[in-house]
Amino acid sequence: MTTSRKEIRNIIRKLRNSLTEEQQKEAEQNLTINFSQHVKLPKNARIGVYLENDGELRTNLLIQTLWSKGMDLYLPVIHPFSGVTLLFQQYEKNSPMRQNRYAILEPELNCSHICPLAQLDYLLLPLVAFDDAGNRLGMGGGYYDRTLARYYREQWQQPKLIGLAHDCQKVAALPTEAWDVPLPTIITPQQCYQW
Ligand SMILES: Nc1ncnc2c1ncn2[C@@H]1O[C@H](COP(=O)(O)OP(=O)(O)O)[C@@H](O)[C@H]1O
Ligand SMILES: [Mg+2]
Repeated sequence: MTTSRKEIRNIIRKLRNSLTEEQQKEAEQNLTINFSQHVKLPKNARIGVYLENDGELRTNLLIQTLWSKGMDLYLPVIHPFSGVTLLFQQYEKNSPMRQNRYAILEPELNCSHICPLAQLDYLLLPLVAFDDAGNRLGMGGGYYDRTLARYYREQWQQPKLIGLAHDCQKVAALPTEAWDVPLPTIITPQQCYQW
């Protein structure tokens, strides 16, 4: 019997939420080192990032490092009209923030600070599980799949997608659906997977 997407979500979410504070900190530091070794960023790159939630790999240190290198960072904001897709809004140290419906922090909506998806150079995505082929399982909302549907269908060159995850979030094979957008690169604290 194959394990369902829902069951895999539950198992892996429990696993990552059971990591200790020490393990989380070490993972965050190793991710930051591993990321710098594997991703050669152009000057002033525009990079979509995320803020950790639900035991995800923390990004605070990576964000600080990217800012210190002069990168322009953007955070996902749930689209105020569609409610099911993401916009990417500039994120600076002093950006006013609010909690969205999942209690995840996002910048207060300011339309003049939105970057169209195609103008991001990189997009770093959170995920619940990934497999040997680069398939991605999210939290179940389909936000990134919907936001990236046209990008994937039309094979845009930009942004480059990079999934970030703990090493324990890898499984052999995920059951996939037609709308799932796979990831060409996934970076963990220990590995860099490319497909
Ligand atoms: N491109 C899309 N267009 C319309 N609905 C979508 C699209 N992608 C995903 N969805 C919807 O989002 C729901 C959740 O997607 P799923 O892939 O299971 O979540 P996640 O990627 O967060 O793990 C699906 O049941 C589907 O109805
Ligand atoms: Mg999906």
